[in-house]
Amino acid sequence: MDRTSISRRCFIGQARDTAVVTLAAAAAAPAVAQTSGKAAARGRPMPDGVTLPSAPPRSPRPGSVGYAVVGLGDYALNQMMPRFARTERSHIAALVSGNPEKLRRVGDAYGVPADARYSYAQFDRIAADRRIDAVYIVLPSGLHADHAVSAFAAGKHVLCEKPMALTSADCERMIAAGQRANRRLMIAYRVHFEPHNIEAMALMRRRAVGNIRAVRTEQLSRTDPSSRPAENWRIDRALAGGGPLEDFGIYGLQAALYLTDEMPESITAATYQPANDPRFAQVFASVASQLRFPSGAIAQLMTSYDSSGSNIAHVRGDTGALIMDPATGYTGHRMRLEGRERRDIALGDPTVQFPRELDHFSGAIRDGSPIRTPGEMGLRDVWLMEAIYAAARTGTMVRLSPDGRMRG
Ligand SMILES: NC(=O)c1ccc[n+]([C@@H]2O[C@H](COP(=O)([O-])OP(=O)(O)OC[C@H]3O[C@@H](n4cnc5c(N)ncnc54)[C@H](OP(=O)(O)O)[C@@H]3O)[C@@H](O)[C@H]2O)c1
Repeated sequence: MDRTSISRRCFIGQARDTAVVTLAAAAAAPAVAQTSGKAAARGRPMPDGVTLPSAPPRSPRPGSVGYAVVGLGDYALNQMMPRFARTERSHIAALVSGNPEKLRRVGDAYGVPADARYSYAQFDRIAADRRIDAVYIVLPSGLHADHAVSAFAAGKHVLCEKPMALTSADCERMIAAGQRANRRLMIAYRVHFEPHNIEAMALMRRRAVGNIRAVRTEQLSRTDPSSRPAENWRIDRALAGGGPLEDFGIYGLQAALYLTDEMPESITAATYQPANDPRFAQVFASVASQLRFPSGAIAQLMTSYDSSGSNIAHVRGDTGALIMDPATGYTGHRMRLEGRERRDIALGDPTVQFPRELDHFSGAIRDGSPIRTPGEMGLRDVWLMEAIYAAARTGTMVRLSPDGRMRG
C-alpha cells in the first residue's frame, strides 16, 4: 500500500458526491482586488531555454500510450516532453497549441505528424484521432478544468498538471466527467515519483524522527518587479487563483500531508497583498498557514512570490529531525536525517520522477492499476487551499472534516 493511501481513504468516498458544490467552496474564493475576467486559451511565444531534439524519437513500443500534450510552455518543453524519451510505455502522439509557428517547429522536432497538431479551436477533433489515448494538460491552472472535461467528452484519459483546478467545484466537475466517460484521471504530482520524497515518506512511516511534532515548509521565490498580469498568467487571478499557494505552495501542503500521513483537523492562516504593487493587484504576495493534525503535530507552511528563493521541508519529531533542502525541485535534492539515525541521504537522479510519473499513468490506463495521485487527491488539496483562504479572510480557525472539507 502506498504512503498516500491512508489519507486517501479518508476522502475517496466523499469525492464521489460530485454534484455537490459546497457552500464552503463558494465562500472560499480568494479575496483579491480585481480580476481580468474569464480565462481563455491563447498561444504564447516559445519559452526561454528550449532545446528541441535533434532527431525524432524512436518509434513507440507496442502498447505504448499516446499522449496529446496541450500547451507548449516552459514546463512542457523544458521538463516533460524531453522525458518521454526515458519512458517505457508513453509517447507523444499529438500536440495542441495556440501558436502555429511553435506548433510546427515542435511538431517537426518531436516527429508528430502534421495532422496530429491541433489549435485550441480544433481541440474537440481529438475525439476522432485514434492515435491519442490520453491528454496531458500543461495549461495555466485556470484552464485545466474546461480542457479536462472536453478531453473526457472526446473519450480520452486525462493527466492534469497541478493544481487540479482553482475551485473544488471545478475539481468535482472534472471527476464527474471522467466517471461519465469511464476514463482515468491523474494529477501530475511528480514528487510522489521522486526517490528522496518517497524515502522521506518511508522514513517517517518507520518513525525515524520519533513522533512528529512540527513540520515547516517554505516555497518562496521573487516575481520579477516588471511583471504584469497581462503577460504573466501566474499573477492573473482568472488563471492562477490566489497565486503562490496554488502554484508551488501546494508542494509544501502536500509534503505536510505525506510526511505526517495525516489530514489536518484545523487551519489558521494569513495572506498579504501589498497595495500599489502591480504584481499583486490580483493575487497574494504571500500566504502563511498553520495546520494542526489529530496526532498533535503542527505544520507551518509559508509560500511567497516576493521573497528570495527557498524550497524546504523540515520535520521535527521527539527523537530527531529530517531536513529536506531543496525538497521538491526538479533535481538537486538534499536530505539529512538527525537524531538516533544520523546521515545524509543521496538517492541518485531525482529526474526519474518525470518518466516514472508518465509510465505510472500509462500503466493505470493499460493495466487498470490504482493511481497514486488521483483526481480525488487534487480535489482534497483544493479543499484545503479553500480552507486556508477562508481562515485568512475571516481571521478564525477553520475546522475540517477528515476528507479536507470545511465543517459547517
Ligand atoms: N509539476 C510541476 O513541477 C510543474 C512545474 C511548472 C508548471 N507546472 C504546471 O504546468 C502548467 C503550465 O505551467 P508553465 O510553467 O509551463 O506555464 P507557461 O510556460 O506560461 O506555459 C503555459 C502554456 O499554456 C498555453 N496557454 C494557453 N492559454 C494561455 C494563456 N491564456 N496564458 C498563458 N499561456 C496559455 C501556452 O501554450 P501555447 O503557446 O502552446 O498555446 C503557454 O505557453 C501549470 O498548470 C503549472 O502549474 C507544473
